[in-house]
Amino acid sequence: MPAKHLIITLDGPAGAGKSTVAKSLARRLGISYMDTGSMYRAITLQGLRQKINLADEKVLAALARRTKLGFKKRRDGTLDVTINGKNASRAIRSVAVTNHTFYAAAAPKVRAILVAQQKAIGRRQSLVSDGRDQGTVVFPKAQYKFYVDADFEERFGRRLREMRASGKTVDPKTLRRDMQERDQKDLSRKVGPLKKAKDAIVIDSTGLQVEQTVDKIMKYIQKA
Ligand code: DC
Repeated sequence: MPAKHLIITLDGPAGAGKSTVAKSLARRLGISYMDTGSMYRAITLQGLRQKINLADEKVLAALARRTKLGFKKRRDGTLDVTINGKNASRAIRSVAVTNHTFYAAAAPKVRAILVAQQKAIGRRQSLVSDGRDQGTVVFPKAQYKFYVDADFEERFGRRLREMRASGKTVDPKTLRRDMQERDQKDLSRKVGPLKKAKDAIVIDSTGLQVEQTVDKIMKYIQKA
């Protein structure tokens, strides 16, 4: 465990392997891992359950304010996201949630609430934090910032295999279109877009296994 308080940010597009890499990196360093995408997903899941108008920013922000999000660590280091105390880690991965999360991600008031929670978590502990805006907005002073990227085709292939492995029926054409749309939305939103921080190190994970990507990142951390 690093002696001092350490924040490492991992930003990048969907399917670049960030969350598996972040989890493994956190385990190697003996620090916690925060999956910020799961927070946007959790608010979306609650919104869908309560049938609120996700496009109405005020209503969505009110929901975000009254929803208690938490992280519960499993023995293998995986984090379960909890909504008002209940485990929602499977439910937040549904296709419906994935395809509706852009409302929460594009709503500045919702982002402000979640960003404040993420900052607070980061003040209390060392973290590997994975998302889109971790190095740019949430932890601008992080000791290490990485931007994890991979070719679109590789990201698409990984996502397809992942979904099939978890038993989901998936039409490759639809998935490809959904991923292209999500990339576009991630890059173009006005607040907290996916963007490489000026001082971030780019890690291209194309053709690399998870542990090889982690090795690559570890080299930068050990060098310092
Ligand atoms: O990483 P993910 O696919 O689980 O993220 C889900 C959605 O949340 C995705 O549409 C991007 C958005 N997101 C965000 O806007 N900001 C973050 N820090 C993390 C995710």
